[in-house]
Amino acid sequence: LDVYERISDARAGAAEARAAGASSALVPTMGALHKGHLSLVDRAREVADRVVLSIFVNPLQFGAGDDLDRYPRQLREDLDLARGRGVDAVFAPSAAEMYPAGEPVVTVDPGPLAERLCGASRPGHFRGVLTVVAKLFGICQPDVAVFGNKDFQQAVLIRRMAQDLDLPVRVVSAPIVRDEDGLALSSRNRYLAGEQRVRALSLSRALRQAQRRFAAGERDAGALRDAMTEVLAQGAIETEYAEVVDRDTLDAVSYAAEDSVCLIAARIDGVRLIDNSALGETIVSPT
Ligand code: PAF
Repeated sequence: LDVYERISDARAGAAEARAAGASSALVPTMGALHKGHLSLVDRAREVADRVVLSIFVNPLQFGAGDDLDRYPRQLREDLDLARGRGVDAVFAPSAAEMYPAGEPVVTVDPGPLAERLCGASRPGHFRGVLTVVAKLFGICQPDVAVFGNKDFQQAVLIRRMAQDLDLPVRVVSAPIVRDEDGLALSSRNRYLAGEQRVRALSLSRALRQAQRRFAAGERDAGALRDAMTEVLAQGAIETEYAEVVDRDTLDAVSYAAEDSVCLIAARIDGVRLIDNSALGETIVSPT
């Protein structure tokens, strides 16, 4: 496993691979790797000869009250996990390496798609995400980049960035990985103590309820939204939004179709969790 802390080393690794005729896939992460990240590595392996994983807790995407300081950092464990999964190279820069002059002057404007859903409560978040992803593309020069669908709005915005800015990277999304009880895997789940984790199951339960209603023929998106809200209200959690949206435009729909996506954000004692499910898809049963 090659481990690069310097941008120049990551670039040299990319150039060497390209010269050898090897295609590269990048899996951008903020570390604290779990099975969801490892599934992205497996997907990357399917689509390219060389898999590069980046680990960088990007300060630019955290707002004032966010969890930047307590976000889990465990580089040594992450490197072991990456090695065990057959990753070829890890790019793990410091903040000073990525932002030597502090906040960059030029950033990526994510446009109106970033103002709704998670963007409504996290101003500047997607600007920070797209800016660091654009930098990672420039540094690691991947042919393909793999992102998890749990951050659905993020995946849509990154796909749009690559398309609208003609970045030479194919953006691939991979399905959510869940614990057996239905909880979508997230590095932030480790903030949840026992009883809070049980409350967190409301998110996947609400999505399952919407799926059940859709399977029974309900096509009124308002009714599906209400069904989700009702389950969330029973769960002693603070719902930020529960929406049914078009998978590409993220516009709220009134008619729910198989290409609509149910999206939820909620807080449990301050811990912010998100989850989503495309209508028609099966979610594992919470026990
Ligand atoms: O999804 C994440 O972990 C981050 O938002 C990403 C894409 C690595 C950018 O920092």
